[in-house]
Amino acid sequence: MTPSLNQVYPVIWHNNSVSLIDQTRLPNEYTFVEIHRSEDMARAIKTMIVRGAPAIGVAAAYGMYLGAREIQTSDRHEFLQHLDKVAQLLRSTRPTAVNLFWAISRMMKAAYETLGTIEEIKQTLFQTAQAINAEDLQTCQAIGDHGLAVLPSTPEKLRLLTHCNAGALATAGYGTALGVVRSAWRQGRLERLFADETRPRLQGAKLTTWECVQEGIPVTLITDNMAAHCMKQGLIHAVVVGADRIAANGDTANKIGTYSVAIAAKAHNIPFFVAAPLSTVDFELSDGSQIPIEEREPTEIYQVGDTILTPAGVDFYNPAFDVTPAELITAIITENGAIAPDKLAKSQVKQLV
Ligand code: MRU
Repeated sequence: MTPSLNQVYPVIWHNNSVSLIDQTRLPNEYTFVEIHRSEDMARAIKTMIVRGAPAIGVAAAYGMYLGAREIQTSDRHEFLQHLDKVAQLLRSTRPTAVNLFWAISRMMKAAYETLGTIEEIKQTLFQTAQAINAEDLQTCQAIGDHGLAVLPSTPEKLRLLTHCNAGALATAGYGTALGVVRSAWRQGRLERLFADETRPRLQGAKLTTWECVQEGIPVTLITDNMAAHCMKQGLIHAVVVGADRIAANGDTANKIGTYSVAIAAKAHNIPFFVAAPLSTVDFELSDGSQIPIEEREPTEIYQVGDTILTPAGVDFYNPAFDVTPAELITAIITENGAIAPDKLAKSQVKQLV
C-alpha cells in the first residue's frame, strides 16, 4: 500500500482493532501491524513499531480500550482493578515521553468517572481514545500554523533544520516540528528542510525524509555531526524540533543529540524552536534534571543490520534522550501559540491564543 499524499496516520482504528504503520520497516516497506490486545500494544510501543511522544500516547489510549474489552466481569471494582493492571503494563513500556502517561491517566479518569454499567465504561473508553486521537491531529495543525507565525520573517524562503522525526508518524498525523515545516512549505515559506540522520535509530534518515518525499518537500539529509558545520556555512535559518517531555521551567527532553544542536544554534545565533502539544508539558517537574531518560539496548549503537561495528571488550552507554536547557530555546510552539520557555507557567499557558 502507498500512502496518499499528506495522509500519514500511524495509528488507525480499523475493523475492530488498531492498525499501526510498522515504523521499524520504513522507508523500505510501508506495512501495517494489526493490534487486537493490550499486551501486543505494549510490545509495539516498546519495540518502536509505533514511536514519537504523541503517537505513543494515542496508541496507549487504544491499548487501554483493548485491555478493557478483554476484562470479563460485571463487578465495577474488579473491572477497575484489572484496568489498572493494563495501565501499569502500558506505562512500563517507555519512560521519557510524558504523553504516554498523560493519555493513560486520561483513560483511567474517564473509566472512574463513568458511573454506568461495565459496557458503558468500555464504550466511554473507546470514545475517549478516539477523542485523544482526533484532538492530537487538530493540535498538530494548530502548532503548524502558530509555528509559521514565529519563524524568522526573512528571508522569504527558509532553510530549516530538524532532528529525529517529529512528523505525522510521531503524532496522530501532520506532526509537531514537521507540522511547522509542512505549514511553512504549504505557505511558500520553505526552501528546504535539512534532516539530521539521528543516530542510533536513524529516525531522521528513515522517517523524516520519507515523510518529506511523500509530500514533495525538498529535504537534504545530513549526519548528526554535520549540523554545526551547516550552520556556520549559513545554510540554516532556524531549527525546529519536537519534545518528549518539557519541565515547568522549559527544559526540554527530546531525542538524543537535540542538546548539541541547540548549543550549535546558540553559537551561530540561529533561533531554536521546540514544537509540542501542551500535553507534553509536565508541570509536576520543576526542571529537566527530574525527567527520566530512557536507556536502550546497546545493540542499537554497536550493530548496523547484521554487522557488528566494535571489537569485543567495549562498554556502551545508550541514552535515548537528552535535555536541552530552557535558556537555549527561543520559544516553545504549542497549539495555543508560541511562548518563551521562562513564561511556561500553567496560568500563562492557558491564556495563550
Ligand atoms: O525514540 P522516539 O523515536 O520515540 O523519539 C522521538 C522523538 O524524540 C521526537 O522528537 C519526540 O517524540 C517528538 S514527536 C512529535
